[in-house]
Amino acid sequence: MVRLRGTFTSLPPLLVLVCLLLWTETTLGSALKSTYIVHMERNSSHTDISIKAAWYRDLLRIATLETDQLLEPDEDDLHHVYHHTFDGFSALLTPQQVAYLQSSPQVIQLQRDTLRKVGHTTHSPEFMGLADGHLWPESNHGEDVIIGVVDSGVWPERPSFGDQQFGPIPSRWKGICESGTNFSASEHCNRKLIGARSFYKGYEAAGGVIDEAEGEYKSPRDSEGHGTHTASTAAGTWSHMASIGPGLGLGTARGMAPKARLAVYKALWKSIAGSDADILAAVDQAVADGVDVLSMSLGSPYDKARPDIARPELWKDMVAIAAYGAMKKGVFLSMSAGNDYALPNSTWGAVGNVAPWMTTVGASTTDRIFPADVVLGNGTVIQGKSGLNSKLLENMTSLISGCDAAKNSSVMSMACYCSPESLSPALIRGKIVLCIITGGDKGAGVLEAGGAGIIATSLPQEGDGIDGAQPDYVLPTVRVGVTARRIITEYITSTNSPTAHLRDPRNTQYNRAPAPAVATFSSRGPGFAYHRLYVIKPDIIAPGVDIIAAGIKEQQYSMLSGTSMACPHVSGLAALLKAAHPTWSPAAIRSALMTTATTKDSNNATITLLESGQSGTPFDFGSGFVRPERATDPGLVYDLSPGDYLNYLCMLGYPPQIIRAFDADAPACPATPIRVEDFNYPSFLVSIPVPETSSHSDRVLTNVGSPRATYVASVTDVANITIVVHPQTLSFNGLYEKKSFTLTVSVTNSLEGGTYYSSSTWSDGVHIVQSPIVIVRDSE
Ligand SMILES: *[C@@H]1O[C@H](CO)[C@@H](O)[C@H](O)[C@H]1NC(C)=O
Ligand SMILES: *[C@@H]1O[C@H](CO)[C@@H](O)[C@H](O)[C@H]1NC(C)=O
Ligand SMILES: *[C@@H]1O[C@H](CO)[C@@H](O)[C@H](O)[C@H]1NC(C)=O
Ligand SMILES: *[C@@H]1O[C@H](CO)[C@@H](O)[C@H](O)[C@H]1NC(C)=O
Ligand SMILES: *[C@@H]1O[C@H](CO)[C@@H](O)[C@H](O)[C@H]1NC(C)=O
Ligand SMILES: *[C@@H]1O[C@H](CO)[C@@H](O)[C@H](O)[C@H]1NC(C)=O
Ligand SMILES: *[C@@H]1O[C@H](CO)[C@@H](O)[C@H](O)[C@H]1NC(C)=O
Ligand SMILES: *[C@@H]1O[C@H](CO)[C@@H](O)[C@H](O)[C@H]1NC(C)=O
Repeated sequence: MVRLRGTFTSLPPLLVLVCLLLWTETTLGSALKSTYIVHMERNSSHTDISIKAAWYRDLLRIATLETDQLLEPDEDDLHHVYHHTFDGFSALLTPQQVAYLQSSPQVIQLQRDTLRKVGHTTHSPEFMGLADGHLWPESNHGEDVIIGVVDSGVWPERPSFGDQQFGPIPSRWKGICESGTNFSASEHCNRKLIGARSFYKGYEAAGGVIDEAEGEYKSPRDSEGHGTHTASTAAGTWSHMASIGPGLGLGTARGMAPKARLAVYKALWKSIAGSDADILAAVDQAVADGVDVLSMSLGSPYDKARPDIARPELWKDMVAIAAYGAMKKGVFLSMSAGNDYALPNSTWGAVGNVAPWMTTVGASTTDRIFPADVVLGNGTVIQGKSGLNSKLLENMTSLISGCDAAKNSSVMSMACYCSPESLSPALIRGKIVLCIITGGDKGAGVLEAGGAGIIATSLPQEGDGIDGAQPDYVLPTVRVGVTARRIITEYITSTNSPTAHLRDPRNTQYNRAPAPAVATFSSRGPGFAYHRLYVIKPDIIAPGVDIIAAGIKEQQYSMLSGTSMACPHVSGLAALLKAAHPTWSPAAIRSALMTTATTKDSNNATITLLESGQSGTPFDFGSGFVRPERATDPGLVYDLSPGDYLNYLCMLGYPPQIIRAFDADAPACPATPIRVEDFNYPSFLVSIPVPETSSHSDRVLTNVGSPRATYVASVTDVANITIVVHPQTLSFNGLYEKKSFTLTVSVTNSLEGGTYYSSSTWSDGVHIVQSPIVIVRDSE
């Protein structure tokens, strides 16, 4: 059950975070050092970053001298200084130094640095209704809005980053381009790509190796493809004929905000892993440089064994704290919800990046698929999806399951996944192999054993949704769902000489119905219990399956899937809204995106879940699928100021010193506690535990539509629940005028415990301002 009440009782002991991916400790003399993020109190004498850096160096020297006479203080141990979004630094520390700093009064908290693996468009602008509407002209395609992308860097030669027709760089821009390996500021930055930096001290200290001999670059150049893809999705300029294969996705590749400026902050390295210390430094620098929108397609993967670490309490999440600092400076933050799937039979979802000042973006399909067939030797045809660039196997070929082709008995389970070194070449050679293929696996194990093709199936929990998580397989591949896997396995066991062929993809098919659907991998709400969540997350969904955008190295374009691909769609749209409405706050922009989103698909039914075909809920798609054309003219917005967010922290019951950790200037919490129900979010999460029978939520609407307008409220009915909006009519007489209303939810005693879904709508006949309502009836 979602618990909406609860108070902050005690501060847990300082965390020693275990890195999520890989970490090592650097041995220096006898002392084991590892990287920590040290979150400091504001010191009012530190008016600029150099004074602050000098003080932190002093502090480290004192910490060394006080704890280990034999250790030479090492200036290089100070990695990053955080100044613009919060106060603190990252450094290599011995356990003794950690203990010393922990007891130091200026230190708020220390966090062991973690490496994060990021969660994770020729066609999507048309599907979203951008190409023929008026948002692009109205916003001049986002000209002069600056989008900062914290990711794996950029491949600057791609046409998406060309600067033809761009005017001078906005004078308020303070950022720079750094030169480095295969990246030259003078050659590669221009009036489109106006900033490029890289951050790696944390990554290297945590054991990450930047191997330039292996094609990595210690510079803003992207060796992973993820950052180039997300940057061009957010703000790629027009580049025609973005074809990625014969007949596949022919069209014009173009970002959401083609005229926005881009600044890339490379903090993700090999396998799109990165260190928190570096990510925080990237965010801090981006804010100092003057970005308007921050696009962050990254976050901790959910870990069932350690949910407290993967989804920490808000005040222990340094990225959330830095994000607060960015929001306070007016930066809109678009973050990916994560690729952690729906957790089966769990009351809690795995959704990440849930701070209320972040816009949390889940992933959906678009109406496009790349079909391909598996034809079994007995004539059965199974529809699947082809990989990118895949030539398929038209001739009947012997078929085998990886599970039946283990090299030896100790690698049996790995063989089902066709992992490298697990398959017997004698059994595999020349055959099509049935494999469970997960994550970034491209089928190297089958190639290595001499196989001819792959039928890739999902994990059981992925069901029959065949999201194309990794389309550039190394062999001809067709991806099918788990039901198909069962049929193919049955067929293999039913005959002595199973065969199959993989039929060529026909031309790209449009108008797949129903679309959009929530991608199987897209992390669902509600947020995990460790973070007492009072708002619905994710906030919104955007295209994140089979997205075509700029590629790296020899690949002009690449097709990727993930919430990482959904996030930059929203970043680009936020830039367009910012360009069209320069005075709107980040919260107003988010409200416009949320209240104009649709919860209906192309069948005019509630958006479904790809894994099951069943209707989704706001915990799957938030307020719905973004509709940019409507977002530019939402009529009314639910606005929030930094002060409102501080009040939210008061509502969480955080003590003053923790609230000051978010904002050193935070005033004391109001004497009369503010009710969490009244937090002015554009969606409603209402808890009515037994024996209570009703709950009311106050909201304030700001008029951003016609100066004079009368809006009438309506709600959708739910059995045994009564929802009343008072007043039912709001008349506005001026732009930016504010009016409040109360939404009261009452339940009958016969209502069974559970979660119920409704929605509220304000309309003046022109605008429709819609919010989801989730009602949680706690049965205990
Ligand atoms: C603030 O920093 C200065 C050095 O810049 C230091 O001397 C002073 O002790 C610090 N004050 C506190 C309260 O930490
Ligand atoms: C990177 O620079 C090196 C040395 O100039 C050059 O040999 C290599 O081709 C460059 N690689 C790329 C991808 O540009
Ligand atoms: C979820 O619950 C259903 C019904 O209780 C059960 O059949 C199913 O096995 C459960 N799934 C998991 C993964 O626990
Ligand atoms: C497929 O079969 C045809 C006719 O038997 C043959 O000419 C062709 O070479 C085969 N293709 C491959 C890739 O084996
Ligand atoms: C089985 O194969 C794996 C991978 O090649 C190898 O590491 C392992 O030693 C083998 N085990 C046996 C028992 O042969
Ligand atoms: C082929 O084999 C599968 C698995 O046994 C079976 O489900 C299917 O009906 C068979 N197809 C035909 C045409 O017999
Ligand atoms: C969609 O369904 C609603 C009822 O759920 C109906 O009022 C509306 O007219 C339908 N719209 C279209 C375009 O069919
Ligand atoms: C609604 O109330 C009726 C009795 O009035 C009860 O039978 C039914 O189970 C209730 N429905 C739900 C969803 O709680």
